[in-house]
Amino acid sequence: MEIEIGSGNGHFITEYCEKNKNTFVIGIEKKRKRCVKIIQKIRKKNLQNIEIIQGSAEDILLQLFPSCIDAVHIYFPDPWPKAKHRKRRFFKMISLNLLAESLKKGGRINFATDYFDYALQAKILLSLHAGFRLIESAPPEEAFLSVYANKFNNLEREIRFLSAVKTG
Ligand SMILES: C[S@@+](CC[C@H](N)C(=O)[O-])C[C@H]1O[C@@H](n2cnc3c(N)ncnc32)[C@H](O)[C@@H]1O
Repeated sequence: MEIEIGSGNGHFITEYCEKNKNTFVIGIEKKRKRCVKIIQKIRKKNLQNIEIIQGSAEDILLQLFPSCIDAVHIYFPDPWPKAKHRKRRFFKMISLNLLAESLKKGGRINFATDYFDYALQAKILLSLHAGFRLIESAPPEEAFLSVYANKFNNLEREIRFLSAVKTG
């Protein structure tokens, strides 16, 4: 079982689930209209291996059983570029603690952003967290199908990908 945090319009999760029929993925998205769009895509593709939960990832993660998740996907999270808004970013130590609780040992976090300082923040947090180790890994190709990924590619912004494994 895997989760995606901030599924947006569902490009990653629907393509990934179509290709990986034996993987069950829970998409967590806080905006209702986006959840509706994802559900339309799921119905069109007749996918049986997805569940969409509308809500904030921080709240949903608290409700999962410990050590039940194999991988977490976080692609192009809201960057909150203004300094005064950075505390709104999902990827912070408290969220990492929640992810460490939900992931199985050996489970992975995959993260991509086109914001240099967000990539740096994520890299520092993952390096400092005792429960994770950064690893060299290639992102799943479906991570780059979304509207956001395309927009950033067209703007020729550099996309940075990080992967970490839960060690403890
Ligand atoms: C910039 S969009 C990227 C969407 C998608 N991952 C993609 O690559 O196209 C970020 C999405 O994360 C959602 N989001 C932001 N914070 C969230 C949170 N704490 N819990 C769940 N969803 C969140 C937003 O509503 C938005 O749809």
